[in-house]
Amino acid sequence: LRTRRILSAIQPTGALHLGNYLGSVKNWVDLQGQRAEPGDDRLFALADLHALTMPKDPKVLRDDIRQMAAALLACGIDPAKSTLFRQSSVPEHTQLNWIIQCLMPMGWLNRMTQWKSKFLAKKGAAATKANGDASLNAFDIADSRLCLGLFAYPSLQAADIILYQATHVPVGEDQQQHLELTRYTAALLNKTVKQDLFPSPQTIFTPTKRVMSLRHPDKKMSKSDPTPMACIFLTDSPEEVLRKVRKAVTDSISVPSFDPANRPGVSNLVTIYAALANKTTDQVCQMYQESTTQVFKQELADVIIETLRPIQANLQRIERDPHYLDQVLNAGAQKAREIAHTNYQQFAQLMGL
Ligand code: ADP
Ligand code: NA
Repeated sequence: LRTRRILSAIQPTGALHLGNYLGSVKNWVDLQGQRAEPGDDRLFALADLHALTMPKDPKVLRDDIRQMAAALLACGIDPAKSTLFRQSSVPEHTQLNWIIQCLMPMGWLNRMTQWKSKFLAKKGAAATKANGDASLNAFDIADSRLCLGLFAYPSLQAADIILYQATHVPVGEDQQQHLELTRYTAALLNKTVKQDLFPSPQTIFTPTKRVMSLRHPDKKMSKSDPTPMACIFLTDSPEEVLRKVRKAVTDSISVPSFDPANRPGVSNLVTIYAALANKTTDQVCQMYQESTTQVFKQELADVIIETLRPIQANLQRIERDPHYLDQVLNAGAQKAREIAHTNYQQFAQLMGL
């Protein structure tokens, strides 16, 4: 008896950092274990078609896809419990997307805010916070760097989810707007064919919403942040982790506490500690109330290092056996294709195709 079909996707964008891990991947792994429910069905996609909206060298893209697949497995995505596959292995994503685009009003996409910040990043402008009233203007339309795919990728995201009749989508808060669009889209498709084919996907919130930059705790940790030491990567050595945590911006108050508004730096470190040690931020503050920020940083570095140790060992093992990765991705593609094919055919027929 299936109760939940969980689906999520991640773009193959190079090395994973602690923000990606705590903001999404750890949540996926927990949904196989401590946060799982009986009857769950899990699909995790490498969103390689989405990666084409920000063009890169084909060899780099190919490496990034494999690197991300390896990283997900190393972090604990278990092929026996989850279907891990490449989006481009399942042609129905783009087929369903086309039908969706023939039904979806352009204004729905025009109201989305994320393509706007990605477009700014592509132009090399300082990536501003996505602002609520972003919309396409004549200037943007004339800019050759704004390809149609970058503007319209939220409809492909909707297709990614709807294609599998997913009921639950674990995402970070930055994806809320796109999931809302997906719910509208599912309802639009159901209305069009006068059948309740597609469930309205619910959000599964990530317990850790945002990990902030270690150097600018008012900005989120991001691999596109050029500031040195702002970001801890899952492949960082123990020495690098210790150095980055020691250098992390805090304040002159000697004891750690959790007060994101007034003490963003140290609060971010408390958040990271709590998430990795499966404790609450209150519990962490209590543990260190007699301590100093220096001692706290030292022990936080240890917690991070101990988290990364098995992940790095897994990564090395996976890298030594490229066939294993191919096997996992091929088996995942086959399972995903079966579901996608059945669902797409049923819908396409109702559309008259
Ligand atoms: P980046 O900002 O480094 O380019 P992506 O945009 O590729 O990261 O994000 C991949 C996933 O990781 C998304 O689900 C996103 O919500 C999550 N994520 C990225 N950065 C953070 C962060 N600093 N804190 C929490 N989650 C994050
Ligand atoms: Na990003």
